[in-house]
Amino acid sequence: MEIIIKRDALSGSQAAARVIARLVREKPTAVIGLATGSTPLMLYNELIRMHREEGLDFSRVTTFNLDEYVGLPPDHAQSYHRFMWDNLFRHINIVPENANIPDGMAKNIPAFCAVYEQAIVRAGGIDLQVLGIGSDGHVGFNEPTSSFASRTRIKTLTRQTVADNARFFGGDEAKVPHHCITMGIGTIMDARMNLMLAFGENKAEAVAATVEGPVASIMPASILQHHPAAKLFIDEAAASRLKLTDYYRWVYDGKPSWQKDA
Ligand code: PGA
Repeated sequence: MEIIIKRDALSGSQAAARVIARLVREKPTAVIGLATGSTPLMLYNELIRMHREEGLDFSRVTTFNLDEYVGLPPDHAQSYHRFMWDNLFRHINIVPENANIPDGMAKNIPAFCAVYEQAIVRAGGIDLQVLGIGSDGHVGFNEPTSSFASRTRIKTLTRQTVADNARFFGGDEAKVPHHCITMGIGTIMDARMNLMLAFGENKAEAVAATVEGPVASIMPASILQHHPAAKLFIDEAAASRLKLTDYYRWVYDGKPSWQKDA
């Protein structure tokens, strides 16, 4: 795993955006996996800026979002459909049909999940997957003890995740759906590159366990230790519990210039 420690969330997000921009310029038909939550907001703002000011072209890009709440219609204020359209898609030139998000209203959820997996394969697989991390170490909504072989499916959120996400529902935990559809850990591991972002003190413990702890399903993000191309963009606060911080900085600062895409 490549650990990239930046001064703050903004510079970490801008560095991550440069990796995505480089991919899109090199491969205009790139397939990108996207995430929701607070973490990727600055990343999406930077991509929007690059689209407007630098002509970054998403017209041939395909996207697949990680997850969606079960039972929330696409126009619900807290649905991930709405999040993506409000915070990214409507500000760039993506073709709506190419922006895929799990359907939280699907009548037959297992059948929908199988179709979602097939659509990823048909699109050629995910070139780059954006990930956040839950304070409990989840990726997508793959909560602790999720199978590392899992594919897109229904999951039940932990109480911790319900509590963490209540802030989006006016602080009312009772309004947070308990079920979601999420890409599996196997799906995420199939992406050619994983790009995880984590900012703030409340992610520090999960980040340390992910990078320096054992690979274990109790800390789902730790599976990224087995991914051949995983980059972790963190700020100083999220890095605060890591042991080998000096080494990560030394590696990053000493990279040859041709490798420095971030
Ligand atoms: P957050 O969520 O970005 O809102 O902290 C991250 C996650 O749950 O994966």
